[in-house]
Amino acid sequence: MKNVKNCDETKSGPLLRVVDLTTWFPVKRGFFSKTAAYVRAVDGVSLEIHCGETLGLVGESGCGKTTLGRTILGLEKTTKGDILLDGYSMSQLTPKEMNLLRQRVQVIFQDPMSSLNPRMTVIDIITEGLVQFKKIEVSKVAHANRLLAEVGLSEDALYRFPHEFSGGQRQRIAIARAISLRPELVICDEAVSALDVSIQAQVVNLLKSLQERYHLSLLFISHDLSVVSNIADRTAVMYLGRIVEAGNTADIVRAPLHPYTKALIAAVPVPGVSRRDRVLLKGEIPSSLSPPPGCPFHPRCPEVMPVCSQQEPVAKRVDGREVACHLH
Ligand SMILES: Nc1ncnc2c1ncn2[C@@H]1O[C@H](COP(=O)(O)OP(=O)(O)OP(=O)(O)O)[C@@H](O)[C@H]1O
Ligand SMILES: [Mg+2]
Repeated sequence: MKNVKNCDETKSGPLLRVVDLTTWFPVKRGFFSKTAAYVRAVDGVSLEIHCGETLGLVGESGCGKTTLGRTILGLEKTTKGDILLDGYSMSQLTPKEMNLLRQRVQVIFQDPMSSLNPRMTVIDIITEGLVQFKKIEVSKVAHANRLLAEVGLSEDALYRFPHEFSGGQRQRIAIARAISLRPELVICDEAVSALDVSIQAQVVNLLKSLQERYHLSLLFISHDLSVVSNIADRTAVMYLGRIVEAGNTADIVRAPLHPYTKALIAAVPVPGVSRRDRVLLKGEIPSSLSPPPGCPFHPRCPEVMPVCSQQEPVAKRVDGREVACHLH
């Protein structure tokens, strides 16, 4: 099979650049549906993903991971900030250009049972994008068989329905659909979270081999740092709509700087890392309707200082990574 390289490796800039991105959801109240408040799901996020790279995005439930992914996909409206693909701002694209972008950025969700149409056969599911964008060259069956082989499924899957497959196989179908248009970026939102650990490893390995073959960039969203540490080159840690620490995954796992990252790592067994300085998180993530003033983590932080409740920390470069914490 031809080794198609999507990204131009000679390009110096990142494939995706998110700049100070904010996605707020209005909460309407009363007879006239006045906006009473905003859910600050994503609150000033900046990040970059380079060609062929996997960026892991971790954080507790409700911290805004899915909303960030959906905003990049154009499924949620940007409140403020910008998203640039290959240096082109998505906010300035014409509908035709936006359509082209839809081919370049694809998504795999957690639950293939709800993301795959139960009334469609596998052949129709995985070639839907190819048909829509008029990319069928020889025959739909030939394309579908090639895609099935790439994700490790046999040809007898073609005319079967999603409910006839196991969870892991269904996720392979979702992956076949996601790669059908040869995208450059795939957003994997909790793509392996619903699977058994052994199946998780198989699907992660499949994603890694497809990434190598097609030079894909991945945004790998998960609440599970041990899974992210297995696949991501770099990791961004999200808390209450903001990135609190970002850098090389190995550095972050070995020597976390932000107290929130320390607590996340203490909570999960990461292969090869033994932790004596266990930090346990108190309480729950506060509501994104009224985030605490200053550092959003300060009410739960074991290393809290007076400044933390008064001043929001700005991200600084420390030990080769970005960290937003007054301790650094
Ligand atoms: N369409 C919406 N309208 C209003 N609030 C929303 C909407 N979508 C998400 N939210 C809120 O935004 C915040 C972030 O949600 P989001 O689903 O992005 O978090 P998450 O990190 O993906 O969580 P999980 O790990 O549970 O998937 C939550 O408080 C959520 O209730
Ligand atoms: Mg989510």
